[in-house]
Amino acid sequence: MRAKISVERIVHEYFNPSTWQRVRALDGLSLDVPDGEFVCLVGPSGCGKSTLLYLIAGLTRPTGGRILVDGREVVRPGRDRGMVFQEFAILPWRTVEGNIGHGLEIAQIPRPAKEETVRRYVALMGLSGFERKYPHELSGGMRQRVAVARTLAADPEVVLMDEPFASLDAQTRNVMQEELVRIALHERKTIVFVTHSVDEAIILGDRVVVLTHRPGRVKASMPIEIPRERRRWDVLGAEERFVRYRQDILRMIREEFDAQERAAEAVRA
Ligand SMILES: Nc1ncnc2c1ncn2[C@@H]1O[C@H](COP(=O)(O)OP(=O)(O)OP(=O)(O)O)[C@@H](O)[C@H]1O
Ligand SMILES: [Mg+2]
Repeated sequence: MRAKISVERIVHEYFNPSTWQRVRALDGLSLDVPDGEFVCLVGPSGCGKSTLLYLIAGLTRPTGGRILVDGREVVRPGRDRGMVFQEFAILPWRTVEGNIGHGLEIAQIPRPAKEETVRRYVALMGLSGFERKYPHELSGGMRQRVAVARTLAADPEVVLMDEPFASLDAQTRNVMQEELVRIALHERKTIVFVTHSVDEAIILGDRVVVLTHRPGRVKASMPIEIPRERRRWDVLGAEERFVRYRQDILRMIREEFDAQERAAEAVRA
């Protein structure tokens, strides 16, 4: 079966104008994501996770290699792909409902349907009563929820999420995780989700992909074989497989972190 997203030997370099040096963020990374899969990406800070999402979104062109979505090469952003950025990107001059409805307006969805969808997401994200508020009137966690709602409301087939729940309190985060899984299964989204939390990756992912330290490549790809109904915070701790996945993934990230430190020391020496 053809993958929904095919990342083929991607190389990406940034140019740093202050040092006149190139920074290689990704180095020959390949990854296939089947239609409807929920894949979580983990790896040490700076290994290129956000870069990979920008490239799939079409916001940046790779230095080498290519990315296909539905068999077509990604050359620009498109409505088939939605992204939730690491630093929440919502429009400061639009209210909560104005932000959530933004993608629907771009897609020229008729007003009644748009308003219905906006209402649904306002309720889903626990934003009722704040529809007319502007981002500066909201807490960080609420802004983050608006950013998630804004992306999901536009109904893209591919959802790219960069640590979307990082600034939420534990309780809200758990609710959002469950909601996202429900949406993912119900509406058959293909999701690439970046997180620093190994626990979050295991609870959400059909598969967890561990990246190496910079320049990033795929270090390991681990299917999570815990049934969805067992992936609740209240029962997961007792799940032997959960403990094992967590140990394995943490060990791999640790290895990469240590290798990164050694590489940095070698440069300093
Ligand atoms: N615009 C840029 N210009 C120059 N270098 C950049 C730029 N953006 C990222 N980099 C570098 O590329 C590497 C990968 O960055 P990226 O943001 O993709 O990492 P990340 O895995 O998302 O990290 P984190 O977990 O901290 O969010 C880093 O070393 C970073 O310093
Ligand atoms: Mg990042």
